[in-house]
Amino acid sequence: MMQNKFPENFLWGGATAANQCEGAWNEDGKGMSVADCSTYKPKVDPKDYVAQNGISSDDIEKAMKSDDISLYGKRHGVDFYHRYKEDLDLFAEMGFKVLRVSIAWTRIFPNGIEEKPNEKGLQYYESLFIEMKKRNIEPLVTLHHYEMPLYLSNNYDGWYQRAVVDLFVKFCKVVFKRYKNLVKYWLTFNEIDSVFRHPFTTIGLVTDRYPKEKLEEIIYQSLHHQFVASSLATKYLREIIPGAQMGCMLTRTLTYPENCDPKNCMLALKDNRENYFYADVQVFGEYPKFIKNQWDKKGINVKFESGDEEILKLYTVDFVSFSYYMSFVSSIDAERKEKVNGNIATGVKNPYLDVTEWNWQVDPMGLHYSLIDMYDRYRKPLFIVENGLGSRDKLEEDGSIQDDYRIEYFRQHIQAIADAIEDGVEVMGYTPWGCLDLVSMSTCQISKRYGFIYVDADDLGYGTYNRIKKKSFYWYKNVIETNGVEL
Ligand code: BG6
Repeated sequence: MMQNKFPENFLWGGATAANQCEGAWNEDGKGMSVADCSTYKPKVDPKDYVAQNGISSDDIEKAMKSDDISLYGKRHGVDFYHRYKEDLDLFAEMGFKVLRVSIAWTRIFPNGIEEKPNEKGLQYYESLFIEMKKRNIEPLVTLHHYEMPLYLSNNYDGWYQRAVVDLFVKFCKVVFKRYKNLVKYWLTFNEIDSVFRHPFTTIGLVTDRYPKEKLEEIIYQSLHHQFVASSLATKYLREIIPGAQMGCMLTRTLTYPENCDPKNCMLALKDNRENYFYADVQVFGEYPKFIKNQWDKKGINVKFESGDEEILKLYTVDFVSFSYYMSFVSSIDAERKEKVNGNIATGVKNPYLDVTEWNWQVDPMGLHYSLIDMYDRYRKPLFIVENGLGSRDKLEEDGSIQDDYRIEYFRQHIQAIADAIEDGVEVMGYTPWGCLDLVSMSTCQISKRYGFIYVDADDLGYGTYNRIKKKSFYWYKNVIETNGVEL
């Protein structure tokens, strides 16, 4: 049998986002973010609702008047804000080389518009990065992970108004300057392709505030602003921290044709191309022609300011990062087919794949497939910055958590990465999602657990928040120690 060969400097680690783990939603001057409006809905079967895409103006009004932290699950998170040193000790014990975190914009500029940054927010991340370095853990920092200031959503139409580009770039410059000696790897927008699936979380757009027939154009315009902001962030990163690296971040939604009917194959090809479009702009520095053709056909008018095209072309990313959880099926007959879920989309069921408790299709070979396909397309180093199994875990009477299902999930997915490396794909690293249990993005609950480390809290945020190592903790530690040889 072939022995897996991961590069010596392979970045093994884990991934988190500020709004899903920090809690402390209104401490030390932090402003309210869009994430602080999303609620856990105890009476809804998590399988039945997808993301916080249905948020209304009324929901926001209520959220702004409420101090509740129980139903607004991202307000309590898993208390990483106060416990990060203890958590970093555990990550270091597993041998993490890298930890993906995000900076909450609202800790630095509470409403996004202040002239001066909030010093306490800056200090918090400074100390977080210093503590990581002490433990030989490299920070991988997302600048925008579903947590823009709510003020901008309410007063600037989220990313729809061009002025937000400058506000974001200002925030980026501040954090680049402050952390220039601490952070080398950066990502601009988490899952930038989510703009259509859940516009509120991604671009701060409350859809009931705009005419329905204009929405598509508004979303494309906001996306364009994010693309320009991403390029400008890359420009300033290069000026302020020479040698640092910037990545884009895509939700990889691989889709297979339902069968070899050329119509299904063509549909799958086009669906995959739609998914790649978002990374294409950030890697190739221009919009693909087919998107502009679609705009023409639909009468969509996206305003480009003079200089935008040059900015996109000049400041492209150094590496391509992505999340991978599941694959989909493209079928011209989709309406009549059985469906499965994702956190953000539903799709046609693939009869060859198992599903998780949340009805997500598990497909390790799809990761191998995506890695080859993406490398052939982009010829840039790839970084899998999210992957994992959301599952209920049982805390046994002896205090252990026997999560063999998670070990099996990771074993297969890490093998898929090894296979892709064997096939010549350049992979920089792997950061499984929610390496520490945290609050779910879509369902806002804790019991959908992803971590190697269990957090003793329930969906309403009650509990001791004690950290407990799961069986997978020891397994992953050994994977890292043997550089992926022992799975
Ligand atoms: C990704 C997001 O889409 O999926 C994360 O970047 C999210 O923020 C993860 O948590 C898993 O989804 P969920 O809804 O199960 O938390």
